[in-house]
Amino acid sequence: MLIDVANPLDFSRGMPPSLTVCNTDSLGEQIQRAHPAARVVKTLNTVNADVMVNPAVVSGDHTIFVCGDDAGAKETATAVLVDFGWPRHAILDLGGISACRGTEMYLPLWVAMRQATGTGHLNIRVITE
Ligand SMILES: NC(=O)c1ccc[n+]([C@@H]2O[C@H](COP(=O)([O-])OP(=O)(O)OC[C@H]3O[C@@H](n4cnc5c(N)ncnc54)[C@H](OP(=O)(O)O)[C@@H]3O)[C@@H](O)[C@H]2O)c1
Repeated sequence: MLIDVANPLDFSRGMPPSLTVCNTDSLGEQIQRAHPAARVVKTLNTVNADVMVNPAVVSGDHTIFVCGDDAGAKETATAVLVDFGWPRHAILDLGGISACRGTEMYLPLWVAMRQATGTGHLNIRVITE
């Protein structure tokens, strides 16, 4: 099992960064294709490193995404997230690895929110009804 937290950010033209892959492919899918036995789980890329391992630095309920093609690998990754302090109800399984196209393309919004709020200690919460 491989937990991929990476974002395909290209800073070569300054800020804000662009994405080296998007729309019809993603970094998570590229890693899975390059290493078919790796059972890639994409998670944690939508928060900064402090929040990854200590979600309590952001107050209240907020959401962390997981996606990947292997259910067992996602269970293992979820156990890691719980160990970091993420409540189970905060962990949203988006399905197969291709769902990380969305979580990677979220980064331009994350960067804008970082600039607007002045802190990387931020996250979003998915609410329904
Ligand atoms: N930091 C965060 O808060 C955060 C949050 C969400 C996601 N991420 C993602 O997590 C990843 C790592 O972030 P980071 O903040 O740890 O970045 P970083 O401090 O810049 O570290 C990047 C690491 O990757 C290595 N590296 C770069 N190009 C390489 C290559 N071609 N081959 C092998 N190793 C290479 C670098 O090695 P050298 O030191 O030898 O150059 C360095 O150890 C990124 O994809 C980032 O988007 C980070």
